[in-house]
Amino acid sequence: MAGKLKYGLIGCGGCGENKHLASYKKYSDEIELAAVFDADISKAKAVAERNKVPKVCKSYAELLADSSIDIVSVVTPNVLHAPITIAALKAGKHVHVEKPISMNAREAQDIVNAKNRSGKKVMVALNNRFTESSQFAKRYVDEGHLGEIYHARCGWRRRKGYNMYGTWFADKKMSGGGPLIDLGVHFFDLTLYLMGFPAPAAVSASCYDKIANPPKAGRKSDSVMLGRNVAKGKYDVEDIAVGFAKLETGASVAFEFSWASHIEKETTYLELLGTRGGFSMHDGVIRMFSETAGDLVDIVPQTKNTSGWGDNETRHFIDCIKNNRNPLSPPEDAVKMMQIIDAIYSSSKSGREVVIKKNKTSK
Ligand SMILES: NC(=O)c1ccc[n+]([C@@H]2O[C@H](COP(=O)([O-])OP(=O)(O)OC[C@H]3O[C@@H](n4cnc5c(N)ncnc54)[C@H](O)[C@@H]3O)[C@@H](O)[C@H]2O)c1
Repeated sequence: MAGKLKYGLIGCGGCGENKHLASYKKYSDEIELAAVFDADISKAKAVAERNKVPKVCKSYAELLADSSIDIVSVVTPNVLHAPITIAALKAGKHVHVEKPISMNAREAQDIVNAKNRSGKKVMVALNNRFTESSQFAKRYVDEGHLGEIYHARCGWRRRKGYNMYGTWFADKKMSGGGPLIDLGVHFFDLTLYLMGFPAPAAVSASCYDKIANPPKAGRKSDSVMLGRNVAKGKYDVEDIAVGFAKLETGASVAFEFSWASHIEKETTYLELLGTRGGFSMHDGVIRMFSETAGDLVDIVPQTKNTSGWGDNETRHFIDCIKNNRNPLSPPEDAVKMMQIIDAIYSSSKSGREVVIKKNKTSK
């Protein structure tokens, strides 16, 4: 594909400007910033001015109707990801859609179907797959150093991610859920990606909103800091989601994701247990564990997380479009991720394990 690709941004909030626009701007030899749209037009105008984007559209339909635009990023509240992505595919655009791909697995499958009909590319913006550490981990696993991976643990636990409370992130009809769908999609996705993304089989989970909505105190939070933010807006999602998933391969994953919990400090972790070795990534630091010459050994690689938020991911998507390659973070994986998320919320509601039906259409 010769010449510059023309780029449009839909959703000019924090992630839209600071991740998507900032990274596409860095590849100015290949990308021409063409247009932006945000429901808040004054925000869109300010973002366009700061980033020298020539056109501010009055609707996303107007942006999609511009036949010169090749790629769009969809960086809106989650509820709009599927409808805008599908409309963009119908308009003949390649789509870089933020996580979570959609509100549920059915919508994610609709995106896969629309992508297959359009012949265009869709990449889910799962930046944690694109770090140097994650790519090192993927090579390490694929080279077979862990043997068969039979169990994993993953989590992203925040002590007080209270800035989410009182915003659209905490309004279930806008976001689809709380820390599970916000943070969980990153680290659950990375875990499954390293394991080769097996299909899910069953989930047993619990979601709690004890900190935002303590039962004995009505809807008033025990937490002064949290209560202050909840008072600003709606709050009907979980504080924390915990549980256990079984995969079709027989392997299992234990998980916990929180925005608010009484723990020492925020932490991220991912551990893989294999028959020949173990792998861990705690707060971005990688270690491997195995046996050599009759003793236990710990391996500490030199790899550092030096990717930059979104840069590697955007670079990769441009290459996929120019060289007709398949994105490393495809929507087909996101269908399986959303099946797990749907099952987690369903299991928490019913108090029972949820068996996940095999999806015959996503691949
Ligand atoms: N990958 C990451 O690390 C990461 C980090 C932050 C956010 N995100 C994702 O990015 C998305 C946006 O999050 P954010 O933090 O930028 O939120 P935000 O609230 O800062 O921005 C959302 C923007 O969408 C706009 N918007 C609302 N309705 C719209 C519509 N109909 N059409 C166009 N724009 C509309 C809002 O006015 C706002 O400017 C979310 O899906 C979130 O999960 C991803």
